[in-house]
Amino acid sequence: MENNLNIQDTASFDQRKITSKIERQQYWLGKRDPKLEEVYSKIAPDIPLVNVEHRELFIKKCRLYFEELVKSAEGVVKIDRWDEFEIVRMFGKGLNPTSLKTTLNNINFLAENLKPDGDVIRIVEYGPGSGWSTLMLRRQIGNKFPDKRIEIYSVDMSPHSVVATQNSLDYYQIPWQTEFVGIDVSKITNSDGAVTLLIDDFLGFSKKQPDNFFDGFFSSHGTAYLSEVEYGQLFEIIKNKGKQGAIFVADSLDPLYTVDLDTFHLVMCSINPKLAEKGKEYEYGKSLVSNSKYFPGKEVKKLIKVNNKESMLFYNWNHYLLSKWKIKYISQMLKSMKITTDVIEEYREDVYPSYLVTKLLERAEFSNWKPLEGLPECPLYITNCGFKLEK
Ligand SMILES: C[S@@+](CC[C@H](N)C(=O)[O-])C[C@H]1O[C@@H](n2cnc3c(N)ncnc32)[C@H](O)[C@@H]1O
Repeated sequence: MENNLNIQDTASFDQRKITSKIERQQYWLGKRDPKLEEVYSKIAPDIPLVNVEHRELFIKKCRLYFEELVKSAEGVVKIDRWDEFEIVRMFGKGLNPTSLKTTLNNINFLAENLKPDGDVIRIVEYGPGSGWSTLMLRRQIGNKFPDKRIEIYSVDMSPHSVVATQNSLDYYQIPWQTEFVGIDVSKITNSDGAVTLLIDDFLGFSKKQPDNFFDGFFSSHGTAYLSEVEYGQLFEIIKNKGKQGAIFVADSLDPLYTVDLDTFHLVMCSINPKLAEKGKEYEYGKSLVSNSKYFPGKEVKKLIKVNNKESMLFYNWNHYLLSKWKIKYISQMLKSMKITTDVIEEYREDVYPSYLVTKLLERAEFSNWKPLEGLPECPLYITNCGFKLEK
């Protein structure tokens, strides 16, 4: 999969660089709703809120940024598997706090385990998608280490995902800069603490980096799309790129679960969240059969009602919106929830789940990677893993 972006690596450094612009960040500032964000931050602390009413605008801006990206470097091409529709899918994800909560927990776990040895903390993020995880990563690591300089390097081979991340960062006034295939990040100048976005594939990018350079590696539903062989190669490479004690944390879907939520239940729990508190944590529909190469023929359990800690955030938020008669807002959110659950069904067969990563790293050749204790608990359909590099 290396360098399948087909970007010519011939343009000069400056030509290939898109620097963040103040106007871009100012664009969203006047459009955000501080009152709504304040309420949301009480219901779902530390989770970014994107106003659903900005959906069309967000997608339009992504299109503009994409055109700009295509002009700025030769050979920026769309990746069919992660094309423009991915923005719609992933925008939807940012509208409800349930799936972001799991990512937040894993980011906090990464932050707790980091042991920076200098003034700079360097983290690689694999697969930012629409950038919700990038926003939380930047903020949580910054909060945990207020005196350090935080450098986030978010790598994604899809230019559509990268422009979506640019917009998400603009939405929260976080500066960014974008670099293309083949960059050694130690050669990049970054004076304003911008998040560096890199259009590259995970393995190709990792190989080009300096040794003993990074404090941590993070991926929420990104490295999960590597095959088992590629995952093994990634750990071989980053064993050299990470510092002694570097941390790797990732999460993924569990291919053996799918979610097809009962709309009536969603609506009732949104009207009265106490119903969810009293209900069973999970209720199941008719199982499916797995086509995943890792689990051929195995049972895939279908969840139709979910009343876990993460879904309570969604019910409580909907409840607030209903109490303010924001009916249009809530109906758009329910649609986005449907897109998010459809993604689970569409993507799960491809996923190499995090618990298999933990098993993979038990092999002798990966003995430098020690499993971390105390991983955050995930909902049934998500799984996570965490390791420390002992050189
Ligand atoms: C499902 S999205 C995850 C987005 C985000 N982290 C989240 O949780 O919402 C996966 C992202 O990983 C990227 N990706 C998948 N495999 C990749 C690879 N081998 N190299 C680079 N990017 C990859 C895709 O382009 C996509 O943007």
